[in-house]
Amino acid sequence: MNDQECKVDYEQFIPRETGFIFKYEKQDNTFIHTFIEGKLIEKVGLCPEKVVGKSLFEFLPAEQALRKEAFYEKAWKGEHVNYEGNFGGIHYLAILNPVRHNGVTVEVIGTTIDITKEKAREKQVQQMEKLSVVGELAAGIAHEIRNPLTSLKGFAKIVKESVSDPTLLPYLDIMLDEMDRINEIVNEFMFIAKPNEHVHFQHTNLNKLLRECIHFMEPQAHLKSIEVEFEIESEILLNCDRKKMKQVLINLLQNAIEATEDSGHFIEVRLEEMSSDSVMVTILDKGCGISDSRYKRLFEPFYSTKEKGTGLGLITCKRIIDLHQGNIDIESKLGEGTTIRISLPRFHRVDSLKIAE
Ligand SMILES: Nc1ncnc2c1ncn2[C@@H]1O[C@H](COP(=O)(O)OP(=O)(O)O)[C@@H](O)[C@H]1O
Ligand SMILES: [Mg+2]
Repeated sequence: MNDQECKVDYEQFIPRETGFIFKYEKQDNTFIHTFIEGKLIEKVGLCPEKVVGKSLFEFLPAEQALRKEAFYEKAWKGEHVNYEGNFGGIHYLAILNPVRHNGVTVEVIGTTIDITKEKAREKQVQQMEKLSVVGELAAGIAHEIRNPLTSLKGFAKIVKESVSDPTLLPYLDIMLDEMDRINEIVNEFMFIAKPNEHVHFQHTNLNKLLRECIHFMEPQAHLKSIEVEFEIESEILLNCDRKKMKQVLINLLQNAIEATEDSGHFIEVRLEEMSSDSVMVTILDKGCGISDSRYKRLFEPFYSTKEKGTGLGLITCKRIIDLHQGNIDIESKLGEGTTIRISLPRFHRVDSLKIAE
């Protein structure tokens, strides 16, 4: 290890806007901070008064202080140490550089930088990779699954109609349900793999489309004694892919029904004209709501809190809304309910749409 001279003008290295610099020394076997400066200090809930002259244990929870102390010790022994951490929602990278004289560490200079944005981007990339792998797999195997599935379903139906032992009927129903589920997953995979394929924009009466979706979902809602209330302003025409828009509305209604407890509750569906060229669909439930930690993961593929969920519903909705150049916004409070707003442009020039090349 080369000893470094203590003449470094560290002031010029302070990442003032996106980080902070600090120094510590070992005094009586304890690491004491001797300096701290930079804007990130406040963002992570600290201030120089809390840190300077203090040990880690005086301003951090014991568990965090212990973890950091191990890094501090390593740096004190002469190693350059990097570590990442999370404090008050800020993701940071810290680098500890020991300053040594004649083979002995005299102090350590640490630099901490905010990498929250980079971490978020990294996660996005990982998600996209996850999706593209899924996409390739899906495109490759979906057809292979679909054909045998169709014959399985056909034969299961024939068996169900002609079976003489009635105790077998529930099993056949389960088989048919499970086959529907496989079919649904395969279809969703296919769409996520190639969302721009087979897009077919048509002038559509959105009120009619919404009514159809509500009508379709009402039996499921009524099973849980949930009423679906529907408010319409006026007839609204929209340029959209009917089948895909139906898929969005049914997915969202289904989520709302699944989130709502049995009996006495209602789901509200609103359709409003926001301006001459945009409309908004609102689906509001008084169900279980979504916690902050779950909220962040809603559009992750395969993220589901349901035993039989696929976790592909919301991401499929988002893909479809993106395809329509619209926006989907989710507002939710744990234990109180969820409101989903979809804003859509009414008409767009077909050549400006992202239709498959
Ligand atoms: N209206 C809602 N109320 C509460 N939680 C919801 C609602 N919509 C979606 N979620 C949460 O988001 C998760 C992902 O939804 P989704 O992508 O449709 O997948 P799935 O319904 O298959 O679980 C759900 O498992 C649920 O935890
Ligand atoms: Mg769903």
